Amino acid sequence: MGSLRVLIVDDEEVILRVMAASLRLEGCEVFSAHSATEARQILMSQTLSAVITDYRMPGESGRALLGFIRRSFPEVPTIVLTGVDDSELARDLIREGADDFLAKPFRRGELIRVLGQVLARRERDAAWAQGWQDGVLSETINALAAAVEAKDPYTANHSARVACFARELGGDAGLTAAELTILDHAARVHDLGKIGVPEATLNKKGALTHEDWEAIKRHPTLSAEIVGRVGLLHQVARVVRHHHERMDGHGYPVGLQGEAIPLMSRILAIADAYDALTSDRAYRRSFDARSALAILESDAGKQFDPTLVQQFVHRVRLKLSDEAGND
Ligand SMILES: [Fe+2]
Repeated sequence: MGSLRVLIVDDEEVILRVMAASLRLEGCEVFSAHSATEARQILMSQTLSAVITDYRMPGESGRALLGFIRRSFPEVPTIVLTGVDDSELARDLIREGADDFLAKPFRRGELIRVLGQVLARRERDAAWAQGWQDGVLSETINALAAAVEAKDPYTANHSARVACFARELGGDAGLTAAELTILDHAARVHDLGKIGVPEATLNKKGALTHEDWEAIKRHPTLSAEIVGRVGLLHQVARVVRHHHERMDGHGYPVGLQGEAIPLMSRILAIADAYDALTSDRAYRRSFDARSALAILESDAGKQFDPTLVQQFVHRVRLKLSDEAGND
């Protein structure tokens, strides 16, 4: 139980001392308070792992303190100390948000066992909540990607391929697993804003007018605005917003330059461009893989991050020579 920071609250000095000694034996850092008022002050100034509080105290009761913790520090688990015959009260306290209770007098082993159980339960709940949240976010991304698909099947397949390239390059660039998930989500919905661009403009075979360009240049902002409506996807929205910025500052929508462009947006830009170059478009035939890599290299430092281009080209060339070797 080392590294735990536990606040104990009791008006009886001797109980505080016994509890503190037991917890310190387990390696906990202990904060002692003689009243709920003192406990509130410690809660406001310290990051705590758990609170163990007496129920009956002069002044503010343990129940009121429990209510304060539930409202202001819901992440901190609370154990309430009750009298022996207070089982009814104990049930009420659990209903009001206490994680557990301990009837006085208790043995040292009991205190440690209950605290251990409470912390383990909180950890399991947090893991479950995280899993649930991740699931909901993935489903949200799937729903938004389906909106892209409904508008334009090319964009849908393109986004899936871009996600694949982006994850590979992101791995080479040293992104963490959590960052790779954000990047993957961003790649799947980066062109979502194209649902706001007229189809005639998107599929135009001839030269684009100034108005056409202005409409197309709005799509990253629109993608980010739609994705950003889901608060938990704000990082994805940021990556999406800047996927058409250029290293030389001549990109859009903001004209960010160099490393001011988020790293994941720089990765997405390369994956996006490579897939676009190797796909047939309304206005041109596709390039073969080697020509597409040469185009990326010639634009390194101007449009694309040169280090990332190098990593990407290296990876794709290896893949191409493996394929050639297998033929
Ligand atoms: Fe785009």
